[in-house]
Parts: sequence; structure tokens; C-alpha cells
Amino acid sequence: MPTLTINGVSLEFEKGQSIIDIALKNGIEIPHYCYHPALSVPANCRICLAEISQPNPKTGQLELIPKLMPTCHTAAAEGMVVTTESVKAIANQKAVMELLLINHPVDCAVCDQAGECKLQDYSHEIGRGESRFDEDKIKNPKKDVGPHVLLYSDRCIMCTRCVRFTEEVTKTGELLVEGRGGTEMIDVFPGVPLDNELSGNVVDLCPVGALLDKDFLFQQRVWFLKQTASVDGLTASGDNIWIDHHDGRVYRVKPRENPAVNQWWITDEVRYGWKFVHSDARLTMPAIRGAAPLDVARPDAAWREATARAALTMREGAKGGRLALLASPMLSCEDAWALARAVLAVDPCALLGVGPVPISGVDRTLAGGFTISAEKAPNARGVRRVLDAMAKMTPSRTTGPALDAGAFLAALTASGAGTVVATGNYPSDWVTDEMFRALSTRRLVLIDTLSTRLTPLAEVVLPSATWIEKDGCFENRSGRVQCFSRAVAPVECARSETEIGIALHSHSTGVAHAGARSAAALRAAMRGTAGLEAVAAAVDAPAATVSRASDMPRVSLSAIS
Ligand code: SF4
Ligand code: FES
Repeated sequence: MPTLTINGVSLEFEKGQSIIDIALKNGIEIPHYCYHPALSVPANCRICLAEISQPNPKTGQLELIPKLMPTCHTAAAEGMVVTTESVKAIANQKAVMELLLINHPVDCAVCDQAGECKLQDYSHEIGRGESRFDEDKIKNPKKDVGPHVLLYSDRCIMCTRCVRFTEEVTKTGELLVEGRGGTEMIDVFPGVPLDNELSGNVVDLCPVGALLDKDFLFQQRVWFLKQTASVDGLTASGDNIWIDHHDGRVYRVKPRENPAVNQWWITDEVRYGWKFVHSDARLTMPAIRGAAPLDVARPDAAWREATARAALTMREGAKGGRLALLASPMLSCEDAWALARAVLAVDPCALLGVGPVPISGVDRTLAGGFTISAEKAPNARGVRRVLDAMAKMTPSRTTGPALDAGAFLAALTASGAGTVVATGNYPSDWVTDEMFRALSTRRLVLIDTLSTRLTPLAEVVLPSATWIEKDGCFENRSGRVQCFSRAVAPVECARSETEIGIALHSHSTGVAHAGARSAAALRAAMRGTAGLEAVAAAVDAPAATVSRASDMPRVSLSAIS
């Protein structure tokens, strides 16, 4: 492989790679604003310039290119020697920073981007300590450019990443550069707001605080946030995400780079669809119909009582007829496994069904290559895979594999199943009229996150955890199994379906669960089940939670006074 040297480090590269691409992939920071690996390269910010020497093809001698070259727009060549640390390169970086800050309001104290702003970072590293600019700064307006995005024009450094995103990725072209020179501004076309399905990505792309997310505006300082690696829990995309949270509360969802799945992007649906996690309609306490409310102050005892009652309902149901399990496609593979094991232990011939899978149109691949998933459930394939494998490994079973929701409802009547363990965990009401008619006339153990019209009719209600509140894995629309990690604790007394399944199994069989209860431990337990090898292997395990704590010393205000 050819090699070059960047800042004294010898690196291998592939033909066609730019210098900055090689540097960043090898952990060498070259300051940059306009460069983004997913976008075209205008080389307009000029902060990435370097001194470059390359061998003369005739003599083989290293020769210095007389002017600084943009590392984002210069392809690497064999034997090149690049430095961004020379006096000339650093002088350029300082000059660029001084120019960019001439009209910048320097309002970091009230800017949402503070703490993750490239202008701040580079000012700290290479900026001047004070401004030499005595004139009046040009003032530009704040603009509402779309349903999710605000533009603070004063802070814009005209890198044009946002414009290129709408031209090259979404191909919707809502953003443009208006004006010339010092009066240049980003804007939308009159009457055409920034309103495409990926619009929120421009906020992530903006290296400064010019494009801001209305939803996150003034909600939290970023240095208080922890980031937990997760996977889209709302659609079948499997998009990799970061969940940013603080003190048990989610504040925002951001894309997590994965070139094989979602590249650098997520849809607005995934970015903003998590709000139900903190909804007032969440189920928070187990409940037994007709009994006094369980004691909130003694959650463990309440859960013991409720799961014992649910297990009794299941046993009685199996004695008097058929038991049935409706496993929602919103559950993780581990959840489905634990619940199916509990139900099949009581009735090996229990009807197994995958809950309704919401579909909106068909998958759409945008001109820039990003696919928007029509299937609005994260794990229909994984849940079906688990139920089918569990059905196959139950030798005495006379009923077939897992049914889809429609066939399941029809089979409930045909089989005379009088007791159903049903799970929801959808971001909104999932109970159709048909579902309501079928489930409300049976004994029901309901495991759900949000209150629906079924809730008051269930014999036992067990509040469950959303995907943000538990560990697990999902299988996406292309069969990729990916793990996700718990970001925040379940709301009040809610528990994951995995924990509920383990408890129901113990109550029903009288066999105490031995061993760890983590998602990883359950996947290991699945390893022996034919058909679940992909789940047990659980590819793409994400990194642990990343703390974004500030590196600045914390000062106590009381100590100052
Ligand atoms: S708004 Fe942000 S992303 Fe767009 S040109 Fe300005 S600085 Fe760049
Ligand atoms: S990053 Fe190279 S010129 Fe902007």
C-alpha cells in the first residue's frame, strides 16, 4: 500500500483518499469546517490548509509546493510529506479563525452549541486571545426556517454543509446561499421551508450554533448530557443512534455513524419520536382488576403479587382451554424469548402471534441513497424468529409457528383460546376495533407501556419499559441484528418484558431463575436454540455510555459568595 507522512506519522492509504480523510481516520486532527465525508468538497473554509512536499517524479527529491494546499481537496500521493503544524500552516489557521470571528456575536453563554462547537474548540486551540476588530459587527437576523430548525444567521460561518446536504442527500434543495461577501446568508426559498424527512440532520452538520433544533433549544447544556449507544426503536430501519440524557430524562436523539446502516443520518421520525417515553399516559404501577391499588412504596411486593396473579390467570386459562401470547414487534428478541418461554411452560400448545406491524406506504430510498422505512416497528423479524424457534423446540406442540396479528385474532376464536398474554409497547394507541373486540372478551394479562382502552379491562396490568429503558437487540428490515443499551431507568415501577417473562416463568413453574438477567446473559441462553444463532451472536454490540462531562473545574457559587 502507498504511504504518506502527516505531521510526522507515516500512514498507509488507498488511492483516491484525500489527506484529511486519511488523517481523521487515523486520529490525527486537522482543523476543518466545510469538509464532511458524506458531502462534496468545496474547500471554502480554508482552515485545513497544510504545507505539502512531494517527490519530484524525475529526481525523486522531495519538493515543497510553494503555497498552502487544502487537505480536504488534495489527494494523497506516495511519499507525500504533509504538515499542519508548521509556522505557515498555523498562521493560516489563526488568520481564518480571526476572520470568522470578526462578525461572530461570541454569544457562547446563551448558545445551545456551546460545548460541542468547532468554533469554540478551534478558538481555544488556535484562536487569538482578543479581537483586533473595533468596527461594528454586521448583525444578521434569526429565522424560523422549518418545523424543526431555527437559523441564527449571526453565528453562521458559511461552510455550506447545510446547503450541500439538501442538495446532495435529500435532493430537496430548500437551503441556499443568498447575497455576496459580508452580507452572504443562508436562507430558504420564499414559501419553501426546510421541511423534509431528514431536516434535523442539518443541525448535526452545522459545526457552529447557527442551525439549532427547536426541540432542544435551551433545554440542557450539552456537558451535562451522557450519550448511550442505541438503535432506532420506532421503525425497522435499525438506524444507529445516540440517546442523550441527563438525570433519568432523555433530551435528544442523534445519529450514530454507521456506514453500513444509516451512514451519518436519521429521519426526523426517529429523532423526535421518543417523546412517549416521558408521557403522562405511561403505565407506572402493576394493577390487578378488582383489587385494591398495589402499594407504590413497596414496588417489589407489588410486582410479586401482580406476577403471581398473572401466572395464576395463565395456569387457569391453560386448564380451561388454550393460552395465547401476542408478542409485539416493538419488543426486543430477549423480551420475546422470555415471555414465550413463560407461556409455553404453562401451555406448550399456546397460540403464538406477532402483534400488529404498522406499515406506512413502502420503503423509499432518497436520491442521495438513504432509505426511509415504511415499517414502523423495530423488531417484527426478530420477534417472529424467536417465537418460531421457541415453537419448534417445544416437542409436544400441536399448534404451528407464530401467526401474524390478523391470523392470530382469527385463530383465537377457532382454537377457543380464552386467556391471552398481550404486549403493546407502541409509541401510540395500538388497539384497533378488531383487536379490542377479540381481547376484551377474554381473560387478559396486559403488558404495556401506555394506557389504552384495553387497560381497564385487563385482569392484570404489568407496566413495561420502552427500548430506551432496557438492554436488548432488534433485527432490522435487512436481517441485521444489533444490540442497544439502556439509557435511563424505567419510569417509576415499570420493568422490562424480559424481567416480567422471567418472573412469570418462575411463578408458573416454581423454578427460581438462576443466573444473570441481563440481555447478554439471555442471548447466551438462546444460543442452544436452533434458528436463534444470529440473535445469540448479536452483532454490532454498541459502545457503553459515554460521559460528556466538562473538563472545566466545577465552581460552587456558595463558595464564591
Ligand atoms: S448554517 Fe451552519 S452548516 Fe449552514 S453554512 Fe452556516 S455554519 Fe455552515
Ligand atoms: S475543510 Fe478544507 S477548506 Fe474547509
